[in-house]
Amino acid sequence: MEDDLEVEEIREMVDNDLGFQQAPLMCYSRTKTLLFISNDKKVIGCLIAEHIQWGYRVIEEKVPEVSSENEKVIFERQKAWCCSTSPEPAICGISRIWVFSMMRRKKIASRMIECLRSNFIYGSYLSKEEIAFSDPTPDGKLFATQYCGTGQFLVYNFLNGQHQA
Ligand code: COA
Repeated sequence: MEDDLEVEEIREMVDNDLGFQQAPLMCYSRTKTLLFISNDKKVIGCLIAEHIQWGYRVIEEKVPEVSSENEKVIFERQKAWCCSTSPEPAICGISRIWVFSMMRRKKIASRMIECLRSNFIYGSYLSKEEIAFSDPTPDGKLFATQYCGTGQFLVYNFLNGQHQA
């Protein structure tokens, strides 16, 4: 019971840190929460995943050609994302992914997703194509683009769209 309470508090803290209204989780008992614990026993990463059936592919907008790497990141951060309206089958939805700010860019989120892929369904390793990200933030989009190796990764749960998973 105590452990459940602590996980719930961590979930709340992650939602506050994400700083905007998050889509509510469909059914807590069907979610998996992974925590990344540092050597000094602090929670420095959290990933909440849920079962989904469909994802929608992000439509990539062309980055202006003469941009430097920095300008590209600024462009990516500022633009809203668009996605296709045709559903594609997916299995695992990443509802929340968060890493403590001082520990970012150390592959903690990547390691949490690797762990998720091998543990979400017993005995199978999920492909990147079977994973979708819930309404990604600018950081989430930059991360997912790099992790999936394409800007056309799957998304779901976009609050302003008609398709709530
Ligand atoms: N800007 C540009 N590229 C980024 C990035 C960022 N903010 N975050 C990740 N990437 C890319 C990089 O290419 C990175 O590799 P590199 O550091 O060797 O260049 C690669 O993704 C892997 O990143 P990783 O170190 O595994 O990610 P992380 O542990 O820093 O965690 C987030 C990424 C998104 C979870 C983290 O930034 C975060 O918690 N942000 C606040 C919460 C949030 O917005 N969550 C997303 C919800 S969809």
